[in-house]
Amino acid sequence: MSLAALPKVELHLHLEGAAPADFVRGLAREKSVDLSGIFAPDGSYSYTDFWHFLHVYETATSVLKTPEDYARLTRAVLEESAAAGVIYSETFLSPDFCGGRDVGAWREYLTAIREAAEEAEARDGITLRGIVTCIRHFGPEKARETALCAAETAGDWLTGFGIAGDERAGEPGDFAWAFDCAREAGLRLTAHAGEWRGPESVAAALDALKVERIGHGVRAIEDPALVDRLAEDGVVLEVCPGSNVALGVYPDWRAHPIDRLRGAGCKVTVSTDDPPFFHTTMVREYDRLADAFGWDEDDFAAIARTSADAAFCDDTTRSRILERLAP
Ligand code: ADE
Ligand code: ZN
Repeated sequence: MSLAALPKVELHLHLEGAAPADFVRGLAREKSVDLSGIFAPDGSYSYTDFWHFLHVYETATSVLKTPEDYARLTRAVLEESAAAGVIYSETFLSPDFCGGRDVGAWREYLTAIREAAEEAEARDGITLRGIVTCIRHFGPEKARETALCAAETAGDWLTGFGIAGDERAGEPGDFAWAFDCAREAGLRLTAHAGEWRGPESVAAALDALKVERIGHGVRAIEDPALVDRLAEDGVVLEVCPGSNVALGVYPDWRAHPIDRLRGAGCKVTVSTDDPPFFHTTMVREYDRLADAFGWDEDDFAAIARTSADAAFCDDTTRSRILERLAP
């Protein structure tokens, strides 16, 4: 069996970040918005570093103005994911971009996204769940409003809460109120950390936000005691190696710590983060990991099971996914 055909589970995917460049260009044309500055001559997204990437991401997102735009985006993204063999995916959604953190507007966006996801499930057999994500560089006050949107819509589809954005803005503790609010609403928790700051940022996210998963978390490798803690506590790392290499966290795939983290007993999973920005897909991630570390089908099957076990879905859905992963 080729790696392309292996059934995959993806836990870390930003919906706007998964927007194909052609899709964004098409919407910009329809709405007469000039986005030429964010594309390279070959039509792909163009950015110089992580902070510029965030700017380009937010500029591209500015053409997504209605629930129907998000429904179209969801269809486009899930079609790509299903083509890469993904059978279950979790996507980050931000009320900042979907209705400006107004709960009524947010509900409309969520309904549109969910309906599009249900169509994709019926057509391509891919299941999606949503994780509301506050944006760190928008600050703690907006994160509170975001958490309230999340709490209002928590349920069997909207199952998680997290934080993305510029990790150098503020400290995890600044966002504790938002995470407490989300936890009390029954949402499961994840936080981006250990991507642009060192191992102390991972420990701070665990301590201050009490998350069960970490987005990236790869720089934990710089502190062996923290690696032991992650392994012992079963903290799940949503690792996105292609993203880390594209953004320059690591110079190349061989230098990426995913294999060492796994070898140390950490629960690692594999995701694409913002695939068109990083010229990647889940198939490409698997191919590069196989090339760099010699991982084979059994390794990828184990990773997919770890991902399914860590998914923020109900147990009936989890059992269904695990059955589809069984050889
Ligand atoms: N938002 C989208 N992609 C991100 C990343 N890799 N890190 C932090 N925030 C993000
Ligand atoms: Zn991310």
